[in-house]
Amino acid sequence: MIKNTFQEQIITYQQGKLVVPDFPTIPVIPGDGIGDEVWNATEKVVNFAVNVAYKGKKSIQWKKVLAGGKAFQETGTWLPDETLSDFRHYVVGIKGPLTTPVGGGIRSLNVALRKDLDLYVCLRPVRWFNGIPAPVHHPENVNITIFRENTEDVYSGIEFAAGSTEALSFIELLGQHFPKEIQKIRFKEDVGLAIKPISKHGSERIVQAAIEYALKENKKTLTLVHKGNIMKFTEGAFLQWGYDIAEQKFGSEVYTSRQWQRTQNSSGEDFANAEKVKAIKSGKIWINDIITDAAFQQVLLYPQEFDLLVTTNLNGDYLSDALAAQVGGIGIAPGANINYQTGIAIFEATHGTAPSIAGKNMANPSSLILSAEMMLRYIGWEGAANLIIHGLERSIAEKKLTPDLSQFVEQSIRVGTNEFADIVCKNMSD
Ligand code: NAI
Repeated sequence: MIKNTFQEQIITYQQGKLVVPDFPTIPVIPGDGIGDEVWNATEKVVNFAVNVAYKGKKSIQWKKVLAGGKAFQETGTWLPDETLSDFRHYVVGIKGPLTTPVGGGIRSLNVALRKDLDLYVCLRPVRWFNGIPAPVHHPENVNITIFRENTEDVYSGIEFAAGSTEALSFIELLGQHFPKEIQKIRFKEDVGLAIKPISKHGSERIVQAAIEYALKENKKTLTLVHKGNIMKFTEGAFLQWGYDIAEQKFGSEVYTSRQWQRTQNSSGEDFANAEKVKAIKSGKIWINDIITDAAFQQVLLYPQEFDLLVTTNLNGDYLSDALAAQVGGIGIAPGANINYQTGIAIFEATHGTAPSIAGKNMANPSSLILSAEMMLRYIGWEGAANLIIHGLERSIAEKKLTPDLSQFVEQSIRVGTNEFADIVCKNMSD
């Protein structure tokens, strides 16, 4: 009998830094629906890139773990405890799309993963790939990273159905303690209620993570996106706490528009722009803010003005998809959920399980491939990550596309999921 001499190597997080062995074990949830297909393509591309970059001196040991429909069939549980503890133990992981169980009080699995592992940053870089059909004239001007807060806001899960005992007793309680405020609710009998917690700690930690990211990635500007004009003590507080931590902790590295406004009698667009240019020229990150509805306009009209957006959970949810759509990338946008204090991170495809094309070799694997590329960068394997970008850029420029994209591109060559992965690998090494 052959003895298994394989020793598992584990990524750890020590003194604020990831320590990555050469042969790390990384847990993966391939996912439901198209999950297996897009995962197989991703695994092929990542293994190929790592091999080309490090010639056998590094490689990833993938460990499949269960969640979603597959987990339910095999274990009777949608999100087994073992999966959560594996993501904690191995620190860095990756996942495909999961079927969200409908009804029965079961939480979205993605929300559950983010909350249980306290992955407070949802990181979404949005850029255009030459050759991807986009609805705007200049998609190449979009290169924006979104930091979306992932654990607070109306995603708290505290919600009471209209007419339920909970809603009625909550209204009664409000009436007892805040008789004036309760009058602001127009129809008290038939009203659903939700709670929107935004904390100082939660706001500070995401803004701090975003500034550290901006410094590392040489971003010039950071914009806090909020709806503080309407929700003063949640969205507005997020903004003020964000500016506070920026000025207190990163005083010599950033310059905020709030600092500048304090020194001014008049505020104006032109003056602010001049100040922004001055700050950037002196090597500082310019931090400003924008109200959410204006942000949707401005990123569409002047995307080149934005490098990094930092925002609350619901704003971030909307903005991430809108920006991805702007570059035609809604089906290929990557994402990650990260806790920068524990290092724990799950990289993920941002699309769903696409049941209607599952098993047909039609799915576009780019979202999961690009998420894996982000993961490689996160663990410091830039060489392999760069190869993946190179392979993907060339494949798209050659118009070799899966059906979701090829249908919109003239003279494109329609390829299946597997073939697309092979083409990306070939384009890496040529
Ligand atoms: P979906 O993203 O699965 O599908 C929307 C449309 O995009 C469909 O036409 C689909 O065919 C297409 N599509 C999605 N990914 C594609 C890919 N990689 N290549 C080619 N075409 C692609 O969203 P839908 O239909 O709302 O949800 C289906 C299931 O997925 C639900 O159970 C939902 O809860 C779940 N879901 C899971 C997510 C996750 O795990 N992160 C995110 C979104 C939905």
